[in-house]
Amino acid sequence: MSSPWMVAGAPGAAVIGGGFIGPVHVEALRRIGVQVVGLLGGAPDRAEVAARRLALPKVYRSLDELLGDERVGVVHVASPNALHFPQARRVLESGRHVLCEKPLATSSEETAALRSLAESRPEQAAAVNYNIRYYPLCRQVRERIASGTLGRVLSVTGSYVQDWLLYPEDYNWRVEPDGRTNLRAVADIGTHWMDLAQFLIGRPIRAVNADLATFHTQRLKPTGPADTFSGPAATAGSPTARAVAITTEDHAAVLLRFDDGVRGAFHVSQVTAGRKNRLTIEIAATEGALAWDSESPNRLWIGSRRGPNQLLERDPALLGSSAAAISHYPGGHAEGFPDTFKQLFLDVYGWIVDDPAARQPPTFPSFADGDQEVRICEAIARSAAAGQWVSVS
Ligand SMILES: NC(=O)c1ccc[n+]([C@@H]2O[C@H](COP(=O)([O-])OP(=O)(O)OC[C@H]3O[C@@H](n4cnc5c(N)ncnc54)[C@H](O)[C@@H]3O)[C@@H](O)[C@H]2O)c1
Repeated sequence: MSSPWMVAGAPGAAVIGGGFIGPVHVEALRRIGVQVVGLLGGAPDRAEVAARRLALPKVYRSLDELLGDERVGVVHVASPNALHFPQARRVLESGRHVLCEKPLATSSEETAALRSLAESRPEQAAAVNYNIRYYPLCRQVRERIASGTLGRVLSVTGSYVQDWLLYPEDYNWRVEPDGRTNLRAVADIGTHWMDLAQFLIGRPIRAVNADLATFHTQRLKPTGPADTFSGPAATAGSPTARAVAITTEDHAAVLLRFDDGVRGAFHVSQVTAGRKNRLTIEIAATEGALAWDSESPNRLWIGSRRGPNQLLERDPALLGSSAAAISHYPGGHAEGFPDTFKQLFLDVYGWIVDDPAARQPPTFPSFADGDQEVRICEAIARSAAAGQWVSVS
């Protein structure tokens, strides 16, 4: 049976956060037929602007007002990281489904509390938006590895690099320490890479050895808000900016040990010129290797020792069943970042509209996955401070 493009009978949604990613949620929700009832932002005037751009009828003044709206059955939390915990907790306590952006929270005390709250309410969806899992060719990698045709996995390596914080004039709430792990690049983009690596090979990360670097120990902080990916927010000498000390990392390199002796290594950087948003991952196994690059997401490299290497172009007709199920366009018709949101939301809302008595366990990234990511972040922070291997608690 072909996979659905729309969800019939879904409850209404509200989105918290109208910055970079909140509107991506709104657009993807509309693509799957979910009515977006309203938006809650940090500042009402900015939320009004975002709501107008998105043709959203309602701007909430507070989380109380949002939770008082009976039309809202699912809340998408797309606010800065430190707000995820209090907001996701209140959404769950209100009896609603929640889809939270990554990282789930800023400490394992918070993620453990959210995880057990979610587990005590199994009828409510509690998802974390690790959307990279929903690129069809990533699913193809997972399927190939699970099938055993690639042999035993030996190592997983790669990187996630960007350039939007290259200059000291670049500023955003992310560069400020959260008072917990105080990680930035690792928490922001490293958790995507680590979630993907564990998902693809089906094994958790057990220990880490990390090196962190803050190249810009001072940045210019603008007086007003600075949007994600908006470019230099302030210029040297501008009366609207002041120099502040920075302690969060611009770069990290991390060695990894997974279950079953699988080794790994990745690096993250937000100061690599020209790399706009590039995740690469390569898996070496006893019978072959696979490599994928998020900036060419419709192509998978298949490495072979005994024969010629291959390039697999994404085409549902050529994919395994789980990968084909999340690939809605024919080969040659590129699918990318917005499609991963659509596919993840289809997974979540499909589960929500299923008959609760007949529901299968969720296949979307759960609060348990979000908890694991923050535990790894804490191990990375401890490892970098101590200069040695640290186990994930
Ligand atoms: N899955 C992904 O690919 C992806 C990509 C980007 C960001 N994210 C995650 O999404 C979240 C938001 O990131 P962003 O890049 O959109 O940030 P952003 O700064 O562009 O937007 C954040 C929004 O939250 C609003 N906000 C601030 N305080 C608030 C409050 N008290 N209540 C409600 N809203 C409030 C701000 O007004 C702003 O509109 C982060 O957790 C980030 O890690 C995920």
